Amino acid sequence: MRLRILFGRFLIRFGRFIQSLAVVVMRPNDLVEFSRQTYARENMVEDLGRQDLAYPVLHPDEQALLARLPAKEGRLLLLGVGGGREAIPLTQMGFEVTGVDFVPEMVEKAKENAARHGVKIEGLAQEISKIDVPAGVYDVAWLSAAMYSCVPTRGRRVEMLQRIAKALKPGGYFICQFRWCTSDGSSRQWERARKIVAFLTLGNLWYEKGDTLSNNIEFIHAFSQEDEVRSEFEEGGFEVLHLHITEEILLGGAVLRKPLSKAPLSK
Ligand SMILES: C[S@@+](CC[C@H](N)C(=O)[O-])C[C@H]1O[C@@H](n2cnc3c(N)ncnc32)[C@H](O)[C@@H]1O
Repeated sequence: MRLRILFGRFLIRFGRFIQSLAVVVMRPNDLVEFSRQTYARENMVEDLGRQDLAYPVLHPDEQALLARLPAKEGRLLLLGVGGGREAIPLTQMGFEVTGVDFVPEMVEKAKENAARHGVKIEGLAQEISKIDVPAGVYDVAWLSAAMYSCVPTRGRRVEMLQRIAKALKPGGYFICQFRWCTSDGSSRQWERARKIVAFLTLGNLWYEKGDTLSNNIEFIHAFSQEDEVRSEFEEGGFEVLHLHITEEILLGGAVLRKPLSKAPLSK
């Protein structure tokens, strides 16, 4: 009898492991496309749009980061605009917001919602890790709702940071939130097995611990070490002014600054 319970428990864990392989058989571009397909579904656009229309406010964690932001107005590049939940209050506060989303219908929804709230936002349909906007134009970039974590691979995240830094004016600020998780849910053997499957399928060869398909709807990389995320920000060309992790809601947030001028290269 006990043996059957053990077997049952094994099958549950094995089932979870099999499901977790989805994140390693897809390559980074596939993972981004996987998330895009989810958000492009009609019900997702409707849901995000409706939520934002009824309740367009900043969450307490976002308000805490905003309180540390020295800039109170200017051009703001909002990455992952959704239905406009953050775009609307930020515009009402005095920022000129350009909202970016890889789902064009979502951009339209955000603009419609903004208009209903009596404000105007600009919209761009682009994928945020390949953001391509005029250089040196924005005073602030904004990426909340842990969306820094929606970009697969360290290399691609650093490239995104460099692109954002390029879009900012010298001395411009970047508010950035990421997913945090220190619970070690997966044993070393399962991790190794995932890497082997990635290798055998020529899938996500850059797989990192913390990579998952959150609720099977979108790619998320959860960070578990402050140094890891801090070093990405610095490699991406930013100074870290403030970094805070809230364990209870598994969320990290940072206020970053693009340096005023490039430090001279040491010989
Ligand atoms: C979780 S929702 C958050 C929306 C909004 N920031 C909020 O908090 O209400 C994520 C939004 O970002 C968009 N998104 C996700 N990954 C993206 C990516 N790599 N490039 C551009 N947009 C992305 C989705 O289409 C969706 O509208």
